Amino acid sequence: MPSELDALNAITDLVLRYRVAPEKKKSAVLASSLLSTESGIASLALALGADITGSLTPAEAALVKSPADVQTSVVNALQKKIRDGDDPLGEAFCKVRSADVRRESGAIYTPRVIVEAMLGWAVNIGVPDRIVDPGAGSARFLIESGRHFKKASLVAVETDPLAALIARANLAAAGMSDRAVVMLKDFRSSELEIIAGRTLYIGNPPYVRHHLIETKWKRWLKDQAAELKLKASSLAGLHVYFFLAIARWAKAGDYGALITASEWLDVNYGQLVRDLFLNRLGGQAVYVIEPEAEPFPGTQSTAAVTTFTVNGTPPSARFARIDRLSDLDHLSGGRRVSRERLTAEPRWSHFTRKAKDVPSGYVELGELCRVHRGQATGSNRVWIAGDHSEGLPDEVLFPTVTKAMELFRAGLVLKDGDTLRRVIDLPVDLSVISAGKRVAVQRFLKRAEEMGAKTNYTSLHRKAWWAVGLYEPAPVLATYMARRAPAFVLNKAEARHLNIAHGLYPRVLLAEKLLRRLTEYLSGAPTMDRGRVYAGGLTKFEPREMERIPVPVPAMLAEMSA
Ligand SMILES: C[S@@+](CC[C@H](N)C(=O)[O-])C[C@H]1O[C@@H](n2cnc3c(N)ncnc32)[C@H](O)[C@@H]1O
Repeated sequence: MPSELDALNAITDLVLRYRVAPEKKKSAVLASSLLSTESGIASLALALGADITGSLTPAEAALVKSPADVQTSVVNALQKKIRDGDDPLGEAFCKVRSADVRRESGAIYTPRVIVEAMLGWAVNIGVPDRIVDPGAGSARFLIESGRHFKKASLVAVETDPLAALIARANLAAAGMSDRAVVMLKDFRSSELEIIAGRTLYIGNPPYVRHHLIETKWKRWLKDQAAELKLKASSLAGLHVYFFLAIARWAKAGDYGALITASEWLDVNYGQLVRDLFLNRLGGQAVYVIEPEAEPFPGTQSTAAVTTFTVNGTPPSARFARIDRLSDLDHLSGGRRVSRERLTAEPRWSHFTRKAKDVPSGYVELGELCRVHRGQATGSNRVWIAGDHSEGLPDEVLFPTVTKAMELFRAGLVLKDGDTLRRVIDLPVDLSVISAGKRVAVQRFLKRAEEMGAKTNYTSLHRKAWWAVGLYEPAPVLATYMARRAPAFVLNKAEARHLNIAHGLYPRVLLAEKLLRRLTEYLSGAPTMDRGRVYAGGLTKFEPREMERIPVPVPAMLAEMSA
């Protein structure tokens, strides 16, 4: 027979077991259910110590007015995950808040592998005194930065109160509260403290299309850009605003890495970012991440990581394309493209493609020369001088290469413009022609009109239908379409060229000797495989394709000519 004491013990055991078992179950349910609502996430953030990372703003405090109870074991488990580099609250936030709603504020959080790669780059550059994460979300960048830079102060700027609350919680859990500030502010108008030391700007600015950007901000963009003597387009996406805001604050010694959509490399509205990259920001490199690498899973977007060190105007920048996230490494390497070339080109993404086997000691022709298509007249039978244009004064007649054959025949040097036909290039303002010569011009214009020259597509798109607008003589001329390799010809005759040829205009000072050597080299270079081959074996070189032909660097050209 069990004693009374035994019976009491058995009942106590039962009660204890009863207590322990449901509590374990209850805490598990509680954690997952809290993570499945916004108010639950806010409660977890508070339990993790969000309010010790600075004081909460009214908007954040409102989210935790009546917080749910959170078990210590849940807090401990979350804290451990955060310390291990995970972002359980940020992930839950991205699940609970629909993609459509997040899209309006550009809230797409950055995978850890990208954050780490960008930090890897920053660590190689130097040690900042402060780190600013513009559009911080759950502070993934800031926490990874805090791990690498133990002494730097950390500044998160974010407009979404729940995200700000999560950022505070994550910073608290990671033990970084005492050096972190979370500003619930629009990054464009947030007043960053001016500090003596270096600031690292690192993050993923929001991608929001211009339709969702208010008119007052569009005005802000134009005004702020104008202060830097730059132009801005009202079609710009929100990330362009962030580049501009950073450029306004950044001072010598600051540096940064931003991941954004890659659009700015090529579209018109991206010109502002390209200008900032080349000048104020001191752009270092652009790494384009292919959609197949899934930088932001499920979005099919092409991302670009842009790195910069504010230190004047670097002579070149690096460009590369990344197919797999595992290739991100520490964002190093890539092909160098000169500042002149970047300044001249309205589109940049093609620079991220690998230069086709450029051997050491060589650069792409485009580094040395801009290749420009010749002018289109719209009607050669009108604008190439002949019987119909008799009497026109010499000053409007320009010896011009009008057939590829003229270049093939010339050999290496085009010496004499007299053998060429003349193109009629009248000024837009005809009053600059002296009265005595104007009669012949009027006679010719009447004849040209009769020949239909006034109404064709090309003339309708000119400043004045009669002004062909020939380009300046190109120091080197090249054919670009033939069944043979292109001819490169030194243009000693200072001839103009129509669109049957390309002109090579040096971007760098090239003494005539070097130019001649370059022309000789190009004439003998195996170039055929670089153009596009059409049916029948016709090979065509667009200007950009011609710019990709590898040529010796000037120092090597100098040796060759010695
Ligand atoms: C692309 S997310 C990046 C979040 C986080 N930095 C990351 O990479 O995981 C952009 C963040 O910017 C915030 N945001 C949007 N507009 C903002 C603005 N004008 N000022 C500051 N933050 C903004 C969004 O709420 C969102 O959290």
